Amino acid sequence: MQYKNAFIFEHPLIQHKISLLRDKNTNTKDFRQLVEELATLMCYEITKDLPMKEIEIETPICKTKTHVLGDKKIALVPVLRAGLGMVSGMQTLLPNSRVGFLGLYRDPETHDPVQYYCKMPEDIAESTVIVLDPMFATGGSATAAMEVLKGMGCKDIKFVCIIAAKEAVERMEREHPDVQVFCGALDETLNDHAYIVPGLGDAGDRIFGTK
Ligand code: PRP
Ligand code: URA
Repeated sequence: MQYKNAFIFEHPLIQHKISLLRDKNTNTKDFRQLVEELATLMCYEITKDLPMKEIEIETPICKTKTHVLGDKKIALVPVLRAGLGMVSGMQTLLPNSRVGFLGLYRDPETHDPVQYYCKMPEDIAESTVIVLDPMFATGGSATAAMEVLKGMGCKDIKFVCIIAAKEAVERMEREHPDVQVFCGALDETLNDHAYIVPGLGDAGDRIFGTK
C-alpha cells in the first residue's frame, strides 16, 4: 500500500542494521549503538526539505554566495524512554538542535499511553519538531505526542520510528494527516500484548538493559 505521508526506508544499510536489531541475541551495547547509527542514517533523509538561506562568504579565491540552513530552529523530541536512544545519533548531524522530553508509557492492560513528563524548549511552537520513538505499534503513543505538541502550537512536525506496524501508520494518517512519518521498516501486525510482530521486542528494555 502506498501511504500519503509515510516514507518507508529501503536503503541497504538501514535494512541491514534493523535485521541486527531484531535478532534476540544482539546485546544491550550493540543494540544501543545500532539504534544510534540508524538515527544518524535516517536523519539525512528526514532533513532533506529543511529551509535554507543564502549567505555571502569569502573562499581563499573570491567572494561567493552560498547556502546554509535557515534560521528556523529544530527541536528533537524523544518519547521516553526508548526515544532517548535515537537522540545522540540525530545530534551527530544536527548539533545545534534543541531537545524536548515527553514521558509516555503504555498501560499494560489497555495499551493506551499515559503521560508522566513533558519539558519542551521555549520556542517549540516555531520550530521544526522531530519526534523520535523506535517503536510505532498501535500508534497510541505517537498520536498522543502529536496532540501534546499541537496543543503547544507546533505546526511543523515529523515523526521518526525504526519499526512501524501498518495499523499505526494508518492511524497517524487518519488522525494527523499533516505529520510526515518516517519508518525504518514496516511490519504486518501486532500480537495480543500489542507488540509488533516480528518486531524486535521491547525497545526500552533492550536499550537500557532493564530485562
Ligand atoms: C513503547 C515505545 C513507544 C510505544 C509504542 O514504549 O517506545 O513509546 O511503546 O507503542 P504504541 O504505538 O502502541 O503506543 P513503552 O510504553 O513500552 O515505554 P518505555 O519506552 O518506557 O519502555
Ligand atoms: N513497544 C515496544 O517496545 N515494542 C513493541 O513491539 C511495541 C511497543
